[in-house]
Amino acid sequence: MSLPQRLAAPPPGWTTYADVVVIGSGIAGLTAALQLRASPSVGSVMVVTKDLLSAGSTQWAQGGIAAALGPGDTPDQHLHDTLVAGAGVCDEEAVRVLVTEGPDAVRELISLGTVFDHTEAGELSLTREGGHHRDRIAHAGGDATGAEIQRALVAAVRAAPDIDVTEHALVLDLVPGADGGVAGVTLHVMGEGQRDGVGAVLCRAVVLASGGLGQVFSATTNPPVSTGDGMALALRAGAVLRDLEFVQFHPTVMWLGAGSTGQQPLISEAVRGEGAFLVDDAGERFMLGQHELADLAPRDVVAKAIMRRMRETGAEHVWLDARGFGAEKWERRFPTILATCRSHGVDPVTELIPVGPACHYASGGVATDLHGQSSVAGLFACGEVACSGVHGANRLASNSLLEGLVFSRRIAAHLATGLPPGRNPPRTRGRPGWWAGTCAAGSST
Ligand code: SIN
Repeated sequence: MSLPQRLAAPPPGWTTYADVVVIGSGIAGLTAALQLRASPSVGSVMVVTKDLLSAGSTQWAQGGIAAALGPGDTPDQHLHDTLVAGAGVCDEEAVRVLVTEGPDAVRELISLGTVFDHTEAGELSLTREGGHHRDRIAHAGGDATGAEIQRALVAAVRAAPDIDVTEHALVLDLVPGADGGVAGVTLHVMGEGQRDGVGAVLCRAVVLASGGLGQVFSATTNPPVSTGDGMALALRAGAVLRDLEFVQFHPTVMWLGAGSTGQQPLISEAVRGEGAFLVDDAGERFMLGQHELADLAPRDVVAKAIMRRMRETGAEHVWLDARGFGAEKWERRFPTILATCRSHGVDPVTELIPVGPACHYASGGVATDLHGQSSVAGLFACGEVACSGVHGANRLASNSLLEGLVFSRRIAAHLATGLPPGRNPPRTRGRPGWWAGTCAAGSST
């Protein structure tokens, strides 16, 4: 079966230029843009996002960002937990980069203005999630870590005079250069103003940071924009994708009813990290004896145990018991989840929360090396759309924000040593030939 090489679209009505085009505006995309702008060898950066800057998955992240920042913790211990969760399929070199560069990357996020939670003694407050043997998850606003990181990054990008932001613009395809590398992107700007409709941005490098594909599944924690279009455009451009079968299901997603589809409320693993536990309809703590970490086993172990228990009992969901927190802890530590549960008629201070697994995270994606370079010259990828190899078969909790942060910085550092050569798209009859005429999906160039 041959894959379409591009989407059906009219030829671009306008063309512009940026040294680097960043596709996506979560932690990976915005970090890449900020770091690229700080580099003297990069003259212009354009960020393209198909909704608003803040609409991606990052702002929904609850639990936090993992890094060996606590007393007694080390990158080696973080490496060990990541490799165990990844079930023997992680790229150890990539994991070593992640855990070694992670602490400094988080400190840099703090210096950029991200406000993490602190203990009464003024130390960074660190919690634990599934698969971690140490408290190493930094969090913000209790359970609003992603929202705080996104806020700080958006503010920094808005304050950077030279980052050109184009919102409501769907990138259609990569424009191939004459040598097969990337010469630019075509995009459909769904707005009003100077640039409207289909256009093209020629550039020397593309950083793909467009997030995941959760909306492919009927129930997911992902926002509506997570439709996998970044992976699809990389595939159409001939990039190698890997590990696509490793789609992670989060064990504790609030169960809203059998027919409930689309984005579902996440009940962070940090809730179990702070002492909540799973029970079945009979009140039995079925995670005890399943794994040495019980309710805090890696999330694939917990999700499978929940599914087994549901099959055995015929129940549509299991329950999360966090009544032991009391009202004060719920309000201080998990205000977002508390409000969400209450908005769905469940008061977790006094009631069990109905939960079950739902699609959460794509561990696979565009295959990249340690500098985020894909198999297509000039195309880099980071964050959920990429497969750097750090997650293996099963991502360790709260490693995803860290991956987006660390590998976007590495891409920027790599590009700072020299941009790829400019590539002209092939021209025919005085027009850029790649888009001359309308082409149907499935046709070849
Ligand atoms: C959670 O808060 O449980 C999700 C964290 C993650 O997916 O890493």
